[in-house]
Amino acid sequence: MVRITYIPGDGIGPSIIESARTVIDASGAKIEWVEAHAGESAMHTYGGPLPDATLASISETRVALKGPCTTPVGLGFRSVNVALRQELDLYANVRPALAFDGVPCLYPGLDLVVIRENTEGLYSNMEHWIGNREAAIGIGVNTRSSMERICRFAFEYARSHSRKKVTAVHKANILKKLSGLFLEEARTTAAKYPDVAFEDRIIDATAMQLVRMPFEFDVIVTTNLFGDILSDLTAGLVGGLGLAPGANLGEQAAIFEAVHGSAPDIAGKDIANPGAVILAGIMMLRHLGLLAEADRVDIALRQVLKDGKSVTRDLNPNTGVGTRAMTEALLAQMR
Ligand code: NAI
Ligand code: MG
Repeated sequence: MVRITYIPGDGIGPSIIESARTVIDASGAKIEWVEAHAGESAMHTYGGPLPDATLASISETRVALKGPCTTPVGLGFRSVNVALRQELDLYANVRPALAFDGVPCLYPGLDLVVIRENTEGLYSNMEHWIGNREAAIGIGVNTRSSMERICRFAFEYARSHSRKKVTAVHKANILKKLSGLFLEEARTTAAKYPDVAFEDRIIDATAMQLVRMPFEFDVIVTTNLFGDILSDLTAGLVGGLGLAPGANLGEQAAIFEAVHGSAPDIAGKDIANPGAVILAGIMMLRHLGLLAEADRVDIALRQVLKDGKSVTRDLNPNTGVGTRAMTEALLAQMR
């Protein structure tokens, strides 16, 4: 039995997490699910969006499957997602962008991964108003040790996943220190991995090049804000947000979740695609060493996507299939 914390989250979260748990259980993985709460939904019961009990649960089980949590824009509480990553020092955010057979997409066959530094940069929670809100200051912090460890993580990832090239994405031409430090560490690290090809690129040109020639990329490593944006872009090159998973990894714990948010526009309608969080679940099973179980879910999901009949409407507008029906199709595939 492996104990795993699960967080239903907000909006579409509870329904897609329920779907993922059902499918993971059907894989034969012996999991004891421990419920914990975060986000807007935790406000009412716990008086705050990130209860201590949730952090304690993840610290104890060391692995969590998490639904998206709503963050108010502009005002209101600090992002639960950013807080979780910083509190638990989940410094590496791994976001694969993989094209699936049967899923209409811009670049069939694409298979790349964005590795985002997850704890620093412009998400360091240091913002200030000047005067009577006449100006605003946001401070970015990149430490040498964090830049070094995310670059090392990316090269180790490339090696262990048989990837050929690492591209470090930066803006060191303008942010000569903040981004320059990252580039410096990327170059130093690259020299230690002669078996992995290395290049560096500037963020804006990378955005253009990813849209036009994404096959030039393999592993992208970048700082927090750039990684946040680029990983939504790369999701758009393949199956969209409904099929984009992410893993938040650190020494103390790992949290697996979808790249997408709580999608309040479609919450409660049984139309959310559970694919992204199921793919995150597959990453979680592999992280736990449950490889056969991971493969079982992976094969079932690929088959359902390839058939294209039992997928939610973001993937095929003609099906009329919802979250529950897609889950049923996955379970049927695994029987
Ligand atoms: P979003 O990712 O929730 O939604 C963007 C668009 O994609 C919407 O049209 C939505 O309907 C669609 N979409 C997202 N997931 C889908 C799915 N599984 N199936 C089908 N369609 C899907 O981004 P948005 O609207 O900018 O953010 C909503 C809330 O989520 C915000 O409060 C934001 O802060 C939060 N958020 C949380 C994240 C997390 O918990 N890791 C990550 C990103 C956003
Ligand atoms: Mg994001």
